[in-house]
Amino acid sequence: MVASREVQLKSFPTGNMTEENFELATVQVPSPGQGELMVKNLWLSIEAGMRALLHEGDAHFGFGKGKPVRGFAVGQIIQSRHPRFPKGGYITGLCNWQEYYISNGEGMQIIDPNLVPVHHYLTVMGAMAATAYFGLLDVGRIKAGETVGVSAAAGSVGSVACQIAKLTGCRVVGTAGSDEKVDWLINELGIDAAINYKKVDDLQEAMGAACPEGIDVYFDNVAGKSLEAALEVMKPRGRILACGTVHDYDGGGPAGPANYLQITQKRLSVQGFSVLDYMDRMPEYLSRMSGWITEGKVRSRETVYEGIENAVAAWIGLFQGKNIGKMLVKLGDPDKVE
Ligand SMILES: NC(=O)c1ccc[n+]([C@@H]2O[C@H](COP(=O)([O-])OP(=O)(O)OC[C@H]3O[C@@H](n4cnc5c(N)ncnc54)[C@H](OP(=O)(O)O)[C@@H]3O)[C@@H](O)[C@H]2O)c1
Repeated sequence: MVASREVQLKSFPTGNMTEENFELATVQVPSPGQGELMVKNLWLSIEAGMRALLHEGDAHFGFGKGKPVRGFAVGQIIQSRHPRFPKGGYITGLCNWQEYYISNGEGMQIIDPNLVPVHHYLTVMGAMAATAYFGLLDVGRIKAGETVGVSAAAGSVGSVACQIAKLTGCRVVGTAGSDEKVDWLINELGIDAAINYKKVDDLQEAMGAACPEGIDVYFDNVAGKSLEAALEVMKPRGRILACGTVHDYDGGGPAGPANYLQITQKRLSVQGFSVLDYMDRMPEYLSRMSGWITEGKVRSRETVYEGIENAVAAWIGLFQGKNIGKMLVKLGDPDKVE
C-alpha cells in the first residue's frame, strides 16, 4: 500500500470555481495486480477546457461529487506487472489528480524521456498543443502572407498557434491579458503585434490598428468581447477557427457575439474543431514538433505550481490569467529505479 493524496470534487461550482468546491483527501493505493502498473504522477496538466466539462449532470470526463478530479498527466511507472509497461518508464494519459494510481495501461501512452523533458508531453509535445497545429494547418489551411489573429495568445494553445502561424509565414497578431505576456509574445516568440486587451479602451480600434488590412484567419480561444472586436476587423470571406470559449467556462456568461450579423455580411466561415478527431495523426504532429523544438523554432514556456495541494489554485489561476504558456503542477521528481 502507498499513501496517496488526491483532489476530490466536493461540489459542482455554480459561478467561478473556488477552493471550497474541492477537497484534498488521502487514500491508500494497493500494489498492482497482474496486468497492472503503479504510476507516480510527476506533472498535472491544467487545462481551460476541463472547466467546461465540470457541470452537474454532465458525465463527461467522469467528474462527480466525491470523485477525484480528472485530467491529463505525466507519470513514472514505479511498479509493473504489465509486459508492455516496464518499471522506470514514463507514461502520459488521462487519469485522476492523484499522487499515485493503479492503471491497466488502457489509454496510456509510453513517452520517450530522451527526446524532450517529460513535462513537454503536456506542453508543446502534448495533444492540447496539437490543437493549434491541426486547427491552423488542417482546418484553417493558413497560407504565407495571411494575417492570423489569436486570442489568449500567451496561453498554452495560443502560444503554439502563434509560433506555428509565424513558421508558416503569416503575419500574426495576438491578444493577451498583461504587458508581460505582450512582451513575451513580441520579443521572444517574434509575433508581429500583440495587444493587452485589459489595458486598451477600445479593443476593436486596437485590433484594427494592428491589422490595417484586416484579419484573414482568427484562431479563437476565448469568444466574448474579443471575438466581437475581431468580427469587426475580419476581412470579407475570412475564416474563424472556433477552438474554444474560455470567456464562458468559469461562470463568464454567454460567449456568443452580439454582432453575429458580421458573419453574414462579410461571408465569413466559422469552423469548430476538436483535436480528438486528430489522434491518429499525432505521430505526424510529434515528428514535426520535435523537429521544430530541436531547431529552436518553437519554444515552450511553463507556469509551474508545486504540489498537489496547489492544483486547484493553479486551475483557478488559469481563469485569472496567471499562466504564461502552459499551466502545470509539479507533483514530484522521478524515483531512482534500479
Ligand atoms: N478544440 C479543441 O480540440 C481544444 C483542445 C484544447 C484546448 N482547446 C481550447 O483552447 C483554449 C485555451 O485552452 P488552454 O488550456 O490552452 O488554456 P490557456 O490558454 O493556457 O489559459 C487560458 C487563458 O485564457 C485567458 N482567460 C482566462 N479566463 C478568461 C476570461 N474569462 N476571458 C478571457 N480570457 C480568459 C487567460 O489569458 P489572458 O491573461 O490572456 O486573458 C488564460 O491564460 C480554450 O478555449 C480551450 O477550450 C480546444
